[in-house]
Amino acid sequence: MTKPVILTGLRANNDLHIGNYLGALLPMVDMARQKAGEYQINLFVPDLHSFTTPIDHGTLQEGIRNNLRVFAAAGLPLDSPDVHIYRQSYIPAHSELTWILDCFTNFGEMARMTQFKDKVRGIRDKFAEDFEPYGNVGGKSAKELKESDALLDEIRDSNVSVGLFNYPVLMAADILLYGATYVPVGDDQTQHIEFTRDIAQRMNNRFGDLFVVPKPVKEQHEFFGKDQGLRIKDLADPTKKMSKSDATGKGVIFMTDTHNEARKKIMSATTDSVGKIGYDYENQPGISNLLDIYKLLGGKADEFIGQEQYGPLKQAVADEVSSFLADFQAGLDKVDDSAIQTKLDVSEKLMNEQAAVTLLSVQKAVGLR
Ligand code: TRP
Repeated sequence: MTKPVILTGLRANNDLHIGNYLGALLPMVDMARQKAGEYQINLFVPDLHSFTTPIDHGTLQEGIRNNLRVFAAAGLPLDSPDVHIYRQSYIPAHSELTWILDCFTNFGEMARMTQFKDKVRGIRDKFAEDFEPYGNVGGKSAKELKESDALLDEIRDSNVSVGLFNYPVLMAADILLYGATYVPVGDDQTQHIEFTRDIAQRMNNRFGDLFVVPKPVKEQHEFFGKDQGLRIKDLADPTKKMSKSDATGKGVIFMTDTHNEARKKIMSATTDSVGKIGYDYENQPGISNLLDIYKLLGGKADEFIGQEQYGPLKQAVADEVSSFLADFQAGLDKVDDSAIQTKLDVSEKLMNEQAAVTLLSVQKAVGLR
C-alpha cells in the first residue's frame, strides 16, 4: 500500500436499486476515475455481511456476480492498476482480524449502535404487521405490539443473530486491514466509521502503531464533497431512505425493473397536499425526492418549482427513469464476464498479500506469533 487508500463495500444481497446506484455506486465510480493514480481504490463486495439477517442462500452467488457486473456496467475502470475489486470472503484475513478485534470491543459499544437498534426495531415492527391480519396477539393490536419494549427485548434475544450485533467489528476489519484513510459511506454508516476509529486508536494505544486511523467523518465529508451521503428516499414513504430491506418494494425502483414497473411506482409516489411544487424536505419530502431523482438523471428540476400540478413532474421523472433504466440494462448485457474474473484474480491475490501484512503485525502484537 504505497498510495493512500480509499475503500468502500457495496452490499451484494440487497437487489440494487436506483438509490444505491445514484447515491453510492456512481459517485464511487466517478471517484475511481478521478483519483486512481494518486490513490489506491478498493471497491469490494461485502459477501460476509450478506446474511447477518436471513437470506435465500441459493441466490447469493448470483447476487455477488451480479453486483460485480454492475460495477463494470457503471463504468468502473477495471483496467486501472490502482482500482481493485474483490469479494471479502476470498480474503480470510477479514474474518481473522474480526475475531481479534472482537476481543477488544465492548458489548455495550455494539449494543449502542443506532443501526443495530433500528434493525431490531424493524424486525419487531414487521412481526407486528405480519400478525395483524390474524387479529390480536396476546390481546395486543399491531400498533401496541409495535410500541412494545417487551417484544423488542424478546426479538433481540431470540431472533437476532450475533452476526448482526457484531457486524461493525467486521466492517472495522474491512477498513483497517488495508490502512484505508477515506471510506465513503452513507449517513447510516457513519457511526461504524467512528467505531473503526475508536478501535484503531485503542489498539494503537495499547500495542503501538498497528493501524492507520481513518479520517474523522467530518473530514471524509469535506473530501468527498457534500453530495456524498445523498440518499434517495422511498417513493411510498419519503421520510425513509430507499432500501430494499425495509420496504414492500412499492417505493423502490430496482435497476432490473421494466419501464412499466418503474413508471407505475413513480406515478403512485406519495406526495403532499401543499398544492405547489417546492424543494423542501421538511414539508414536501415526496416532491423533493422526485426533484432530486430528476436532477440526478440530468433533468432540469428547477423548471417545475412553483407549478401547481404534480402530474407533469411525475410524468417527466417517469420518462427520465425509464430511459435511464433502458440504457443501464443494455450496458449490463454487454458486460464482459471474463474481464471481471481476470480482474478479480489479480485483485484478490494482491489484497491477500496486503491484508496478510497487517494481520501478521496484529497477531504478533497480541502474542499469537
Ligand atoms: N456496511 C456497509 C453498508 O451496509 C457495507 C460495508 C461493509 C462497508 N464493510 C464496509 C462500507 C467497509 C465501507 C467500508 O452499506
